[in-house]
Amino acid sequence: MVERLQSGDMRALARAISLVEDGATGAAALLAECRRFTGKALKIGVTGPPGAGKSTLVDQMARWLRGREETVGVVAIDPSSPYTGGALLGDRIRMQEQADPGIYVRSMASRGAVGGVASAVRDVCDVIEASGRGWILIETVGVGQDEVEIARLADVTVLVLVPGLGDDVQSLKAGVMEIADVFAVNKSDCIGAERVAAEIVAMQGLSGEKTEWTAPVVQTVATTGAGVAELMTEIMRYREHRASEGATGNDGWWKRLRLDHLGVAVKSIAGARGFYEMLGMTVEHEETVEHEQVRVAMLPMGESRLELLEPTAEDSVIGRFLAKRGEGLHHIAVKVADVDAMFARLRENGVRLVSDRVRVGAGGHRYFFVHPSGTGGVLVEIVGER
Ligand code: CO
Repeated sequence: MVERLQSGDMRALARAISLVEDGATGAAALLAECRRFTGKALKIGVTGPPGAGKSTLVDQMARWLRGREETVGVVAIDPSSPYTGGALLGDRIRMQEQADPGIYVRSMASRGAVGGVASAVRDVCDVIEASGRGWILIETVGVGQDEVEIARLADVTVLVLVPGLGDDVQSLKAGVMEIADVFAVNKSDCIGAERVAAEIVAMQGLSGEKTEWTAPVVQTVATTGAGVAELMTEIMRYREHRASEGATGNDGWWKRLRLDHLGVAVKSIAGARGFYEMLGMTVEHEETVEHEQVRVAMLPMGESRLELLEPTAEDSVIGRFLAKRGEGLHHIAVKVADVDAMFARLRENGVRLVSDRVRVGAGGHRYFFVHPSGTGGVLVEIVGER
């Protein structure tokens, strides 16, 4: 069964989870086998009072991760499972129906779990992780003792608060504020959001506890996705913080992003390479790209490279750059996992691109250029991994 899980068989995954939930014969053996493949996924607990918009936020986080080619499992803990309808369920079913095998959503009953909810959730997460998912989002329904327990098994806990629930931050039960590694003030387009954020910060100041990590406060609007990127960044920042303390985790998009190369426009490669060779670098590859009227020399530098660009015609891109600006940094190139997805995302977000489509360069690598007007003044080249 574990083999079938790992081959991406969604029905096997659903069945394995049911076996484990029911404590059926063989469940223990199945779990033991699954656990040979666990320990790499990042588990994010999302908790907060009912009505805070957690489900919508979790859906946005999942979509955001899928946009980065990450595989996601969602475990929604419902006190009265099976899930009792509503727009959110419809949304989730649609998400799965779009036949995206990269996302798997499962709701779980919190009542009657043998040995406690937290341990049942952990088991289900282990099965999902064994199916190869890199991220698991665990959504709880409220902020009681069970939720605190569940938060403990997540690597990162996001506490979602909202303005206008009639509750002050101060009225949250003791022990709830402390579980947050990151705060999300959701519905931040509503009146009172600023006050909620300010109250959190004030409480953090009051606690007087000196810790190395102060949970950051991110404002989100789950219905539009606003703030989700910031939320994910803070989650990653927390993860990095924990990693520096010895915890381990998965290798996601932020680790796969690379500075691929720096492009430097020079009058002559022969004249410029001497200095870099003095540094200990060597020209690994040199070629003329006819259609761009440029001669290129690549000098590896750790995981990146230096790209020296010499024009073969005055009226070429690099030739004109030299005439206008002189020798110097021409562009920086960032390597991403999926160049087509990045092209689509940037274009969707109205970023001005120089290239009208993803182009194929020397050696078959695929790339496009982003206009300096949207990047802080630097021409940015986006290169795909493959
Ligand atoms: Co380049």
